[in-house]
This record gives sequence, C-alpha cells and structure tokens, in this order.
Amino acid sequence: MALKSMIVLVALLAAASQAEAQIPGLPGLLGIISINGTIFCSTNGNIIPNAATPTPPFSNALVQVTCGGNVIASAITNGLGGFNIVLNPLSFLLTSILSSCNVVVASPLSSCNSSLPSTGFLQAPLQLIGNTVRGLLSVVTLIPSLFQLINV
Ligand SMILES: *[C@@H]1O[C@H](CO)[C@@H](O)[C@H](O)[C@H]1NC(C)=O
Ligand SMILES: *[C@@H]1O[C@H](CO)[C@@H](O)[C@H](O)[C@H]1NC(C)=O
Repeated sequence: MALKSMIVLVALLAAASQAEAQIPGLPGLLGIISINGTIFCSTNGNIIPNAATPTPPFSNALVQVTCGGNVIASAITNGLGGFNIVLNPLSFLLTSILSSCNVVVASPLSSCNSSLPSTGFLQAPLQLIGNTVRGLLSVVTLIPSLFQLINV
C-alpha cells in the first residue's frame, strides 16, 4: 500500500474510532452501515401469511432512508424485492440513525398491485441486527422493523 493511502487509511480509522467511541460494544474498526431488506407487495410490505397465492416481491420500488424528513440515501429493489444501502459511518452516527431515521418505500403500492392503495407510503424504523468484521471493515447491519402504511 502506498504511503499516501496508508496515511488516509490511518486518518479514516482514527476518525472512525472517534465516531464509534460513542457507540458501546462496537469495535473501533472502520465501520460501514449496511441497511438491507426485502419488500413484498402487501399493505405492510411483508409476506401475507397463509395466502392462497404467494405474496409477490415488490420489485423496482424506490426505497429511501429518511432522517427528519430528509432523504439521505436511496435504492431500487431488485426482482426479488431486495435492497441494500450502505452508509458512510463518518457522515452518519449509528445512534442517531437508529433514533431518527426511517426506511420509506416511496413507490405507491398500486404500482405492484393495482388493488392496493395508490396513495400513502410504507414506513418503518430501523433496527440493528448484527455487527460483523470483514478484514479491516466492521459492517453494522440494520433492517427495517415493521412497516406501516402512512397515509398522506
Ligand atoms: C441482510 O443482511 C444480513 C447480513 O448480511 C443477512 O443475514 C440477511 O439475510 C439480509 N437480509 C436480506 C433481506 O437481504
Ligand atoms: C392484490 O391485492 C389484493 C387486495 O389485497 C389481493 O386480494 C390480491 O391477491 C393481490 N394480488 C396479488 C397478485 O398479490
């Protein structure tokens, strides 16, 4: 590794451990915050239990991470309804993401099933499900908890 990138890495690690010093129980490694989930085509974004036909995934849906009403990151769900959003931990504190951010499905439910509402949006707070170390990276994984249909 070139000296310059080494210096940058050390600076990043120092900044990261400062940021994470406020988060109990996390190692002082360079961490990324990974938000993932799967959205299904229903009024709560989940699989409908015991439905006659399997609940289809909500593909091509715009998923946003919003904090205090501001969109800080977004992604489009894949064909299986899955999405993954990675946040830079130097810009976002885990504790404030958990307390003040939400996952919003901005696409109307009617776009996956015309019988479902064309107004309102699904919204869920975030929950931490794990923290894994991959080499020098610590990956904190967050997922949306229960979605609610917010009517506008
Ligand atoms: C989200 O990521 C975690 C950890 O990598 C994984 O166990 C989980 O299956 C993922 N969930 C979805 C819905 O992709
Ligand atoms: C579309 O939504 C309606 C109303 O919830 C439901 O009865 C129907 O099974 C859904 N269709 C599919 C393909 O999921």
